[in-house]
Amino acid sequence: LLLLILEDASAATESMMLDTGGLSRQSFPKGFVFGAATSAYQVEGMADGDGRGPSIWDEFIHSKPYGTGKVNEKGVAYYNRLIDYLLEKGITPLVNVYHNDYPLALDKRYKGPLARQFVKDYSEYADFCFATFGDRVKNWTTINEPRPIASLGYDVGSFAPGRCSKAIFNCSAGDSATEPYIVSHNLLLAHAAAVHIYRNKFLHPLVYGEYPRTMREIAGERLPEFTAEEAATVKGSFDFIGINQYTAYYVSNETKETPKEMTSYQADWKAKFSFAKNGVPIGQTIPSSVWVIDVPWGLYKCLMYVKEKYGNPTVILSENGMEEPANVTLPKALHDTTRIRYYKGYLRQLKKAVDDGANVVGYYIWSLLDNFEWATGYDSRFGIVFVDRRDSRLKRYLKMSAYWFKKLLQR
Ligand code: NOJ
Repeated sequence: LLLLILEDASAATESMMLDTGGLSRQSFPKGFVFGAATSAYQVEGMADGDGRGPSIWDEFIHSKPYGTGKVNEKGVAYYNRLIDYLLEKGITPLVNVYHNDYPLALDKRYKGPLARQFVKDYSEYADFCFATFGDRVKNWTTINEPRPIASLGYDVGSFAPGRCSKAIFNCSAGDSATEPYIVSHNLLLAHAAAVHIYRNKFLHPLVYGEYPRTMREIAGERLPEFTAEEAATVKGSFDFIGINQYTAYYVSNETKETPKEMTSYQADWKAKFSFAKNGVPIGQTIPSSVWVIDVPWGLYKCLMYVKEKYGNPTVILSENGMEEPANVTLPKALHDTTRIRYYKGYLRQLKKAVDDGANVVGYYIWSLLDNFEWATGYDSRFGIVFVDRRDSRLKRYLKMSAYWFKKLLQR
């Protein structure tokens, strides 16, 4: 009897913890897509096996590049197997073409996205992906988080290839006042060129584009200019906007003198970011994370801003998630009730935005698996699936949040 009562009690506690707070698949419009995201460099491993050449991150974190030309057939076979398997399991892949790890060879050859050649090489690579996997992959994004690529890689230097003017991290000589703009510019062109290639084979029209007025005023001559031809390829080169959101900050106008610790690119933002106002924190801090949680209302604000400012474009929330410290016991990591609270909060705000007319059609959590977290390596865990890094086969365990999503999404 005691055993029975204990079992009942634990079943009740578990069902309380898995409570979705009234949210379900049906809370969202018909056809709304749910998914879990990862990126190649962050979860695949295989640094030098099966013919893979190094990317800029391989050198950045450790220190037989190719980059262009010969296609690595083993890599293609791997992605063919992965895509086929997903489809077999009823999962529709949404493939992002570039997520931080461009080939090291291109960095050595012409400094990657600092050179216009990157646009050509990237778009040829994208074209190859469309042609090779497009028979089965119908949903694509081009470049993940271009802003951090430009600001962390070429201003602060905390991301590969680690360039900056001020030696904040262990970075090599760069020019923070110009390089982030050049990189952003070339990434925009690379994105647009890939979309152009895709659409040309799918017959969509293209129109004109330019940078916002304030950006042109502040950066002046440091901001690269689009030729008329480039502008024509850039504007309208999206079918949906992908938003990655993790936290929220207070932002205030910062017109005073540039603080010493700010780079010139950051000073251009003319803004101060803070996790507290009048000494009151905006949300809860998680050890090992630079972001606060319990600020899901920021998502609502962001989605409504995009709706109002940009004519309610189609939006996919392409990443949303929280990190927890890596150095905890397995049972503690699996019992991730804070993550469940986090997702519940964000999904409620997402629903509110959708109910208020925001044209959001999909939501992807970050991440399916505990991942390599770039500059901070393996110090934290984002996954709803735990990866045992001490196990040679990287054994995986479903966290409570994975069961929560299963319950939320059951039909
Ligand atoms: C966004 C990036 O796309 C991804 O690579 C990273 O792991 C997550 N943010 C968490 O920081």
